[in-house]
Amino acid sequence: MNILILGGGGREHSLAWAVKQNPKCDRLIVAPGNAGIADIAWCADLDIEDGEAVVQFAEDHAVDFVIVGPEAPLAAGVSDDLRAAGFLTFGPSKAAAQLEASKAFTKEICDAAGAPTAAWARFTDAKAAKDRIQDIDETIVIKADGLAAGKGVIIAETPAEAEAAIDDMFGGQFGEAGAEVVIEEFMTGEEASFFILCDGQTSLPIGTAQDHKRVGEGDTGPNTGGMGAYSPAPVLTDEIAQRAMDEIINPTLAEMAKRGTPYSGVLYAGLMIENGAPRLVEYNVRFGDPECQVLMMRLGGQALDLMQAAAEGRLNEKVVHWADDHAMTVVLAATGYPGAYAKGSVIKGLEGLAQDSRHMVFHAGTRESDGDIVASGGRVLNVTARGDTIAGARDAAYEMIDKIDWPEGFCRRDIGWRVLG
Ligand code: AMP
Ligand code: GLY
Repeated sequence: MNILILGGGGREHSLAWAVKQNPKCDRLIVAPGNAGIADIAWCADLDIEDGEAVVQFAEDHAVDFVIVGPEAPLAAGVSDDLRAAGFLTFGPSKAAAQLEASKAFTKEICDAAGAPTAAWARFTDAKAAKDRIQDIDETIVIKADGLAAGKGVIIAETPAEAEAAIDDMFGGQFGEAGAEVVIEEFMTGEEASFFILCDGQTSLPIGTAQDHKRVGEGDTGPNTGGMGAYSPAPVLTDEIAQRAMDEIINPTLAEMAKRGTPYSGVLYAGLMIENGAPRLVEYNVRFGDPECQVLMMRLGGQALDLMQAAAEGRLNEKVVHWADDHAMTVVLAATGYPGAYAKGSVIKGLEGLAQDSRHMVFHAGTRESDGDIVASGGRVLNVTARGDTIAGARDAAYEMIDKIDWPEGFCRRDIGWRVLG
């Protein structure tokens, strides 16, 4: 089977790594890929948000299966173009990708499906939004409706902060994404991520994880794309996961099917858990990054069979074979991230590291330059390890980190603290 993966971050490196372990995989192409992915696949230069170009590329290279990594090509309808041209594709349609591309859409679906989530209201102008919050003196959440690269959510603790956020969003800070604004009740509890494969009819949970979004230790400082993650998430017990399936996920999937836009691909549910009850924070229509890295580390080659079954509508035939273990990934980022950072510094010490089914350095933002691996992004490496316990996974990951020589980078030393103390 010739496989094309769209994307070029740590998530796609881990997808490529897992897929490659499956003997079904003949040729593996990743577009655009990165310096780490280039070790295991051909990295092709391709505009992955241009559906026509992706279809042409798939035709030219006899691709049998396309796995779409990030949300942008999904929101642009690339999976629809691929399916229309007859390519087997993992990833939802543009219509179903609204579950990530529009926060108001998701809230409407939740209401229609009776899925528990924060109380909410949508606004198309600043005055109406401000009028509504005037008498509220508790923390509220202000969100740009559209895709804003994880930056369009403001937790406002005072009315002044809320008003400033509303002005910024309608003032164009997030471009088109802020043309509509959703205001939500602030939920308390512990957050966890739940990943479910869907084929339009059947849903199959494939794991839980928790990530650390803030840049600073103790979960302080500005938000990032994620500084580290571990799987499984102990807070998402089997019982709570079952409740989430019954009360949130399956009703959502039924509502999507009823509307004529069945969901197929991976659904990533961000849950807030309090007193044993899950509520939905948000959906994403792709794997989390860096959560995917820990899921792939634990799933290995069966990930390809599972994604293929989802794309072919055969998930009812599948079970997930779990090793009873843990995985952790720690993000090495460029100094300054998530603010301004320099690119181009050389990373040394990678050659000597173990790369096997229990240890992997996934590349997130790297390129090759004159034989060196250099940083080319904010999040640069995802140092990932498995262990029999979460503490064992953590120790193995930090042991690898300590062998990497990259003075221009940094990491959090406390990934997993909620579980490990
Ligand atoms: P989102 O992009 O919707 O995932 O929001 C980013 C982060 O903001 C989430 O992971 C939560 O930590 C936080 N957040 C979003 N909505 C709420 C809410 N209604 N209550 C509490 N925290 C929230
Ligand atoms: N790690 C959070 C995300 O992928 O959205």
